[in-house]
Formats: sequence, C-alpha cells, structure tokens
Amino acid sequence: MAAKRTYLILFGAQGSGKGTQARMLQEWLGVPQVATGDLFRANLGQGTELGKLARSYMDRGELVPDSVTVAMVEDRLSQPDAAKGAIFDGFPRNLAQAEALDAMLAKWNTGIKAAVYIQLDRDQLMKRITGRRTCKNCQAVYHVEFNPPKVDGVCDACGGEVVQRADDADEVAVARRLDIYFEQTTPVIDYYRGKKLLKEVDGSLSIETVQQAMRAAIKPKPARKAKLAAMPVKKVTKKAPVKKAKPVKKAATQKATRK
Ligand code: AP5
Ligand code: MG
Ligand code: ZN
Repeated sequence: MAAKRTYLILFGAQGSGKGTQARMLQEWLGVPQVATGDLFRANLGQGTELGKLARSYMDRGELVPDSVTVAMVEDRLSQPDAAKGAIFDGFPRNLAQAEALDAMLAKWNTGIKAAVYIQLDRDQLMKRITGRRTCKNCQAVYHVEFNPPKVDGVCDACGGEVVQRADDADEVAVARRLDIYFEQTTPVIDYYRGKKLLKEVDGSLSIETVQQAMRAAIKPKPARKAKLAAMPVKKVTKKAPVKKAKPVKKAATQKATRK
C-alpha cells in the first residue's frame, strides 16, 4: 500500500526565511518541518555525540559531513509524525545530499513535490541574520526589528528564553556560511530547476506575503482540490438529511473537478 506522501524543499541563503516559512507551512501541508540545523542544535543542547561533532563544524560556519547529516535525516523521516512527508529546511545543501535524498525517497516510490527558492540579496540577508533571535526551547524564530516576541526575551509560543544563535554572533562565520551557500547550494538549485521542480519567491516581502506566494507556488490546484474535498464533506453531511437534491449535484461537481 503506497500512502500518499508530500516532500517539499525550501532553499534560500542563511537568513532568507526558510525556518520562518517552514514552521507556517507545517499545519497547512499536514507534514512536519525537518530542519537539519535545528536537529543539530537540539543534539547540541542535549550534549549527544552527534551534537558535539556537529558543533565543531557549525561554529566555523562549515557543513557537517554528508554521511552524518544524511543518516540523521533518514532517522528523522522514519518517525511516525513524518509518515506523510516532510518540509526540508536546510537540506539538501549540496549535490551529494540531493542524490542521497532522491535515493531515500525512491524507497517509498516517491519524490520531491517542489523545491521553493526564497530569493534575497546579501545586504538584506546580513540584516536578517544579525537581528535574528531564536527560542532556546522550541526554536521559534524572531527578529529584533521585523518580528519581535511580545515580551522581550520570552518566546510567544512556549515561554522559553529567546536568545541569539551562537553562529549568528560571529560575523566571520556568518560570511563563511554565505560563501559556502552560494558555492555549494547553488548547483543544487540548478539540479531541481533541471527537474522542473523549482519555484522561486521574492523573500524581501513581508512574512505573510512570502507565505502566500509559497502556498500559491507549491500547489495551486491541489490546494483548491483539498478545499473542495474537505469542505463539502462537512456541509453535505449536515445538509443531506434536509435536502436530497443538492448533495447529488455537489457530488457530481466534485467528481468533475477531480478529473
Ligand atoms: P541552519 O540552521 O540551517 O542555518 P542556515 O541555513 O544558515 O539558515 P538560517 O537558519 O540561518 O536561515 P533561515 O533561512 O532559516 O532564516 P530564518 O527563518 O531564521 O544551519 C546551521 C548550521 O548547521 C550550518 O551552518 C551547518 O554547519 C549545519 N547544517 C545545517 N544543515 C546542514 C546540512 N544539510 N548539511 C551539512 N551541515 C548542515 O529568518 C531569518 C531572520 O529574518 C529571522 O530573524 C526572521 O524573524 C526574519 N525574517 C524571516 N522572514 C522575514 C520577512 N519576510 N521579513 C522580515 N523578516 C523576516
Ligand atoms: Mg533556519
Ligand atoms: Zn519557544
């Protein structure tokens, strides 16, 4: 039995808003965000061996070795909440990871639905990164100017402490992350463009506008289909006992839309 799965990739340089957008997409798509940076930071916070290993790379703004990253993603995808798919944030970051992901998904006879590229220029990226603040507990993302928590230093979502990420505080490491991004991740974008899966959105707009653009880019038809499929079910159930003729027409419309 091949269950329908949805796998989406978010691309964009550091600070482009992948994490911010991925968290908003989770509920809409019904699949969890899988953010490799967040997973490494969670391991780091728990003092695991994986966390210790990752830290040495993250502090320098370099990529954690592919074998470690791919194994971690595979483990994450095997967890029950990811049974229907995932939104990748920060993965794949080079061609080797992209190929490893294809191989992983091929095991479930599935592939990537879309790869969304959030575009932003380097000056704006620096401003986003230097002003970013993150919840130590749930990793919710804030910005001192653009998206501050309601109470300074306290997470709106969980009440956790909101702090600056260690790798955001070091300007040399930030610049290195950007260099590596443009060097290694740009070919991955071309890889998905070649497969006709790439969608591009303007990351300089407001958080809500970017989110809308993303939803429109990801699945305009399925979104409408999902709405049609989901909403009439409730309405028809309520109205059916009263009026017999209308549900028949609606069912016919639904059938036609599905084709
Ligand atoms: P990771 O955690 O993935 O960091 P990153 O790629 O550097 O991306 P960021 O989290 O910095 O940016 P983002 O796009 O999520 O932006 P955000 O939403 O926060 O990786 C960290 C490290 O882990 C790497 O350097 C590497 O060492 C390692 N690693 C991770 N993945 C790996 C992999 N696959 N392989 C190997 N190593 C790996 O937004 C930024 C700020 O802007 C926030 O303050 C936000 O509030 C604000 N903002 C967002 N959108 C808007 C908007 N539209 N308008 C105004 N402000 C906005
Ligand atoms: Mg992020
Ligand atoms: Zn929190």
